[in-house]
Amino acid sequence: MAKPKDMMKEIASLCNRRGFIYQSSEIYGGLASCWDYGPLGIELKKNIKDSWWRSVVRMRDNVVGVDTSILMHPDIWVASGHVGEFHDMLVDCMQCKGRVRVDHLKDGKCPTCGTKEFTDPQKFQLMFKTKAGASEATALDVYLRPETAQGIFADFKLVQKTSRMKVPFGIGQIGKSFRNEVTTKSFIFRSREFEQMELEFFVKPGTDQEWFDFWVKERFQWYQDLGINPENLMLRPHEKDELAHYALCCTDVEYKFPFGWGELEGIANRTDFDLKAHIEHSGKDLSYFDDEVKEKYVPYVIESSGGIDRTFLVVMLDAYREEEVEGEKRVVLGFDKKIAPVKAAVFPLQKDEKLVGIAKTICKNLQGFINCYYDQSGNIGRRYRRQDEIGTPYCITVDFDSLEDESVTVRERDTMEQVRVKIGDLKPRFLEEFA
Ligand code: GAP
Repeated sequence: MAKPKDMMKEIASLCNRRGFIYQSSEIYGGLASCWDYGPLGIELKKNIKDSWWRSVVRMRDNVVGVDTSILMHPDIWVASGHVGEFHDMLVDCMQCKGRVRVDHLKDGKCPTCGTKEFTDPQKFQLMFKTKAGASEATALDVYLRPETAQGIFADFKLVQKTSRMKVPFGIGQIGKSFRNEVTTKSFIFRSREFEQMELEFFVKPGTDQEWFDFWVKERFQWYQDLGINPENLMLRPHEKDELAHYALCCTDVEYKFPFGWGELEGIANRTDFDLKAHIEHSGKDLSYFDDEVKEKYVPYVIESSGGIDRTFLVVMLDAYREEEVEGEKRVVLGFDKKIAPVKAAVFPLQKDEKLVGIAKTICKNLQGFINCYYDQSGNIGRRYRRQDEIGTPYCITVDFDSLEDESVTVRERDTMEQVRVKIGDLKPRFLEEFA
């Protein structure tokens, strides 16, 4: 199974061509590092999010979900340390005038022109600032959140009380985050607006290492369950000097990208750093009374923080393959079928009124529970190729025999095998596979 030389370019081109991802504001020349998900992209992204939500929130009795606001009280970001600590150190290159992150210099040299002469390093705040309020004079300076986690910490007590959760328990959230990133290459790997899937799991101090190990294992398995080749995944514990200001320890899930190993998710022991900081700054008691041991404490937090856009990119890179079939190139996105954006495509063999009628009815009936697509243009071979390229697991063809035997041909994406299936058996068959 071949892969093209420049995979990132190939995937970006396929994403644009087939309606997975477009450059934001393209008609105005685009806005750097901002991306729009198209009709197929949004389906795939939704399936990734649903898989995370099912695995981390819905299937667990000890995890509940929230959807907190993007704009929050500015003191939250003072308490969390983001106002003071969330910045990149930047230098300006004296020769090419480019602005570079100090940690992105190559052996002390400018990655663009190779010179070693720079201005003194300067702090660059990564949070986007905006104003909330109608009047310029009285409007409050607020930030677009750079992580969804702080909304969870701020609501910890409310969620714990209203859902009567007992420690150990977790709060999960999926939502947009924003960072004014300086280096934004590699397609959607690092953008200024992106989505995170975060779990903050609150535990009794002293049990934190055990829960940290538990979540590292669980989260690593999730990427494999999503169909990612385990050979392209690894766990990388952080060195002490690369830990975020809030973390006692952290292990990243990394993927072997075409440009090298890169982070997909971090699992961190955030200790009681955040809750204690919010207790101090808000003056509210966010401690927890443990009924069982009759003890009051501030829980420790194990965090799992993954990026949906990066997972999307990895799913595309990992699924892409090229094959030769009967002397022609076949491009296939061999997604795990559960996350494929379109589950089945229905074709009439010809634009015959009766065949079209049956095909459209089948499509309508299946659309109630799987994403199904109707296509009647071009020859059957071309229609198959179009579906292979977007990873559709099944193609259903209605032909003239269907009028007699009430059956259709179902062709499977990876093996290209074709079987006859009774029209009435399609729904139970797909329900069993995808429900
Ligand atoms: N709450 C902890 C936190 O936000 P992080 O390592 O800064 O930790 C977690 O971010 C994940 O969010 C990353 O592993 C990555 O998948 C995703 N992420 C972070 N910055 C991103 C960006 N600029 N573009 C796309 N994804 C990003």
